[in-house]
Amino acid sequence: MWVLISAALLLSLTERATCKSQPPPPPPKPSPWTITFSPAEITVEKGQCAVISCTFTHPDNIKPTTAIWFKCRTKDRCDEDKNITFHSETPSKAQEGFKQRVSLLETDLTKKNCSVIINDIRENDAGEYQFRLLNSYTYSKKVKITVSALTQKPSVLTPPLTEGEPATLTCTAPGFCSGTPPNITWTWRGTGDNITELRDNTTIQMREDLTNVTTTHFSTLTFTPSAEHHNMMVMCQVSFQKKYQIEETVTLNVTCEYHLSYILH
Ligand SMILES: *[C@@H]1O[C@H](CO)[C@@H](O)[C@H](O)[C@H]1NC(C)=O
Ligand SMILES: *[C@@H]1O[C@H](CO)[C@@H](O)[C@H](O)[C@H]1NC(C)=O
Ligand SMILES: *[C@@H]1O[C@H](CO)[C@@H](O)[C@H](O)[C@H]1NC(C)=O
Ligand SMILES: *[C@@H]1O[C@H](CO)[C@@H](O)[C@H](O)[C@H]1NC(C)=O
Ligand SMILES: *[C@@H]1O[C@H](CO)[C@@H](O)[C@H](O)[C@H]1NC(C)=O
Ligand SMILES: *[C@@H]1O[C@H](CO)[C@@H](O)[C@H](O)[C@H]1NC(C)=O
Ligand SMILES: *[C@@H]1O[C@H](CO)[C@@H](O)[C@H](O)[C@H]1NC(C)=O
Repeated sequence: MWVLISAALLLSLTERATCKSQPPPPPPKPSPWTITFSPAEITVEKGQCAVISCTFTHPDNIKPTTAIWFKCRTKDRCDEDKNITFHSETPSKAQEGFKQRVSLLETDLTKKNCSVIINDIRENDAGEYQFRLLNSYTYSKKVKITVSALTQKPSVLTPPLTEGEPATLTCTAPGFCSGTPPNITWTWRGTGDNITELRDNTTIQMREDLTNVTTTHFSTLTFTPSAEHHNMMVMCQVSFQKKYQIEETVTLNVTCEYHLSYILH
């Protein structure tokens, strides 16, 4: 009897002891493979460009050589070998619609920067995208692109117009993308319904800011205002990829030479 009790006591004691000394579950090891998008969701207007800002980490013993971006077919279905949007080693492996449109902002993969730009955004670019290091790893986190209507307007800059003095109007297309240049056209309409497209004295230009990887597209219209131009409406139309069109109209105010000399004297 005594033996039994003490045995039971001992057992419960050891039980308690082992229970107490059980090590806490080890904290989950942080994965050496991480990817960060900032932000994880991007909304882009049609015709503009999407810039995905992205960084990644990998185990020290891996030497990334080739970056691949691909698009998920559906929300839950990502197929790595089809729907390649960018392949740094074999660009021809990119799907037809994406060739030449996608490029890495940083081509040196040792910088762990997977940022990418997709130019000439169209409706069916909407969806989720994934990043992969060839022969190593596919990051499961996705970045989502939403494509919205083009609602930005061109901006038209008008200097003060004086009769007889050549003046230059400037129309700047929205966006800072390096893709296909937009088509910028000028038309003007008098008080009647006469609409004339202006081809003479218009130029299309762009300004690249290399430190900033941005490109601004603008067109200038140079003409010599006369009294007839007063109250005329000048319209600047900008179209991206011949599909997405926006416009801005300004009414010209021409100061007459007569008034000016009247004021001056
Ligand atoms: C993915 O690729 C397949 C085969 O080329 C194509 O039929 C499908 O439309 C593509 N899906 C997307 C979302 O691009
Ligand atoms: C990635 O590289 C691009 C181009 O060099 C740079 O503009 C961007 O700031 C880099 N992003 C990060 C998070 O370092
Ligand atoms: C630009 O638009 C005008 C008017 O729609 C058209 O005549 C011209 O061919 C276009 N130019 C280009 C380069 O697409
Ligand atoms: C429209 O403008 C053009 C060029 O300024 C001119 O040749 C034409 O006669 C005008 N048409 C009308 C109906 O005013
Ligand atoms: C980059 O360029 C755009 C267009 O010229 C300008 O609006 C923006 O302020 C610039 N950003 C920086 C950081 O210089
Ligand atoms: C084009 O510009 C030049 C110089 O500013 C001017 O002499 C000429 O009249 C302009 N042509 C038209 C059609 O406005
Ligand atoms: C011309 O004047 C009208 C009325 O004052 C003004 O609404 C318009 O913005 C002016 N246009 C330009 C190009 O300055």
